[in-house]
Amino acid sequence: MFSFLKKNTFPLSLRADLHSHLLPGLDDGVADMDEAIRVIRQLHDWGYQKLITTPHIMSDTYRNTPEMIRQKRTELKEEVNRHRLPVEIDAAAEYYLDTWLINQVDQGHPLMTFGDSYFLFEMNYITEPYQLNDFIFKLITLGYKPVLAHPERYSFMTMSKAEDLHYRGVLLQANIMSFTNYYTRPVRKFVSQMVDQGWINFLGTDCHHQRHLKPLSEAFRSSYFKKALNLPLLNYQL
Ligand SMILES: [Fe+2]
Repeated sequence: MFSFLKKNTFPLSLRADLHSHLLPGLDDGVADMDEAIRVIRQLHDWGYQKLITTPHIMSDTYRNTPEMIRQKRTELKEEVNRHRLPVEIDAAAEYYLDTWLINQVDQGHPLMTFGDSYFLFEMNYITEPYQLNDFIFKLITLGYKPVLAHPERYSFMTMSKAEDLHYRGVLLQANIMSFTNYYTRPVRKFVSQMVDQGWINFLGTDCHHQRHLKPLSEAFRSSYFKKALNLPLLNYQL
C-alpha cells in the first residue's frame, strides 16, 4: 500500500522527535488511535525511539489542558504497548502565542514542557505579534527555554529576525517537511539558509497524520536535511 515506506530505508540518527500531533481527538492531528499507531509504527521503522507529541493549545480553537493531554498520553502509551512497539511516548504541547497564553504566564500557571524545560510555541503566520520579545523575556526569566516551532513557515520571518531570536535565547525548531516543497518553495529556501547559518536547534516532524509520511520520507532524502543532521541538534539529548 505505501510503497515509499520501506523499513530501515532511512536509518535516522535523530532518535527523538519533539513535535507532532498524535493524540487523537485533541486537535487537527490523527483521527483515531489506529492512525496514531500506523504513524508511530512508520516513525519507529525510520529509527525514532522516542516521540514527544505536542497537541495544539490555542485558546479560541483547541482548549486543551495539561490534564486532558496527560490522560490521552496514557491511553496512547497503552495502545503502543498493546502493539508491542518499542517506542517511548511522552507529551508536551505546542502553545499558540495569544493574549490568553500571555495571561497564563503572567498568572504563573505551569506550562507543559519537555526535556530540559523546553517550551514549544508557535504564533501568527502572517503578522509578527507585538508582544513577542516581552513574552520571550518573561519565559526565560521564569526558567523556561523557549523553542519556536518552524520559524521558516512565518511569512514575516527574515534571516535577521531569526538571528535576533537566536541571540535572544530562543531555540529554533525546523520542520523536516520544510526540506521539500511541501509547504512552499520559499519555506524550503529559508530552512536551507538556516542550516547554512547553523541556527537550527531541533528538527521536528510536525506530523499530523498519515498523509505527512510521504513528504517526510522525501525530506529525509534531501541534501539539506542530511546537512542539518550534522548540526549540534538538541534532539540527540532528549
Ligand atoms: Fe505543530
